[in-house]
Amino acid sequence: MESSRPLLSLDALTTGYQRMQVLSGLHLTVNPSEIVSIIGPNGAGKSTVLKAIYGFLAPWEGVVRFRGEDISHLPVVARVKKGMILVHQNDNIFSGLTLHENLEMGGYLIARGSLLKERIDSVYEQFPFLYKKRRQAARVLSGGERQLLAIGMALVSEPELILLDEPSMGLAPRMMARIFEWVGRIHEMGKSILMVEQNARQALAISHRGYVLDLGKNRFEGRATDLLEDPKVLSLYLGGENSHENL
Ligand SMILES: Nc1ncnc2c1ncn2[C@@H]1O[C@H](COP(=O)(O)OP(=O)(O)O)[C@@H](O)[C@H]1O
Ligand SMILES: [Mg+2]
Repeated sequence: MESSRPLLSLDALTTGYQRMQVLSGLHLTVNPSEIVSIIGPNGAGKSTVLKAIYGFLAPWEGVVRFRGEDISHLPVVARVKKGMILVHQNDNIFSGLTLHENLEMGGYLIARGSLLKERIDSVYEQFPFLYKKRRQAARVLSGGERQLLAIGMALVSEPELILLDEPSMGLAPRMMARIFEWVGRIHEMGKSILMVEQNARQALAISHRGYVLDLGKNRFEGRATDLLEDPKVLSLYLGGENSHENL
């Protein structure tokens, strides 16, 4: 059935760097209009999953599908054109350029100027903070504002699926809350989101489903509400019931 087909699926994906295997037989799906989180300890392979989905790493075994189509061997640009975009963990904006120029860079694949303007205007409409600061150099932004700009750049390409690598990393709690609020709003705009997060509780709190990755393998998966209450997940990956939020 058309409506039950996942937007993205990883089927027994194994890959790594040079000869170092990082992911082993990984399964993961994102359905249309879902927010899905990947959590797990440092070095578990979370960023590597996003790189494999985006085309920075080819599968050694297994398949990456987007809307049912095998995209495992497509280059990055072809995947962007099909409707996905990755917001990197670091260095995801051009600090020497203005906010507006950054948003233009986000639309580098859009050939028609009028369409690019339309897309940027729609991002400004959704997120007026970017409009207010549009003429300023991105270097003056705070860490959290930089993340918001990076997400804004991603939106210019009007992706169906947004891959977010630790959007709340290193941010103060108030800014962190704002980032998760933005993720929720982007979801309300009809986007699907696959998010890697160290702040597992907060990520799961706004997600429909989650995956716990450990040593490059599926460890737990399920509805986010169930994961947040699973005693094993709690003690192993959420730092115990009353403990700190970070992994
Ligand atoms: N470019 C790279 N070259 C070689 N090894 C890498 C590279 N990037 C990550 N790794 C290794 O792959 C493993 C998983 O890393 P990563 O996916 O970044 O984990 P996570 O995002 O969960 O912290 C780690 O052992 C890391 O050292
Ligand atoms: Mg990472």
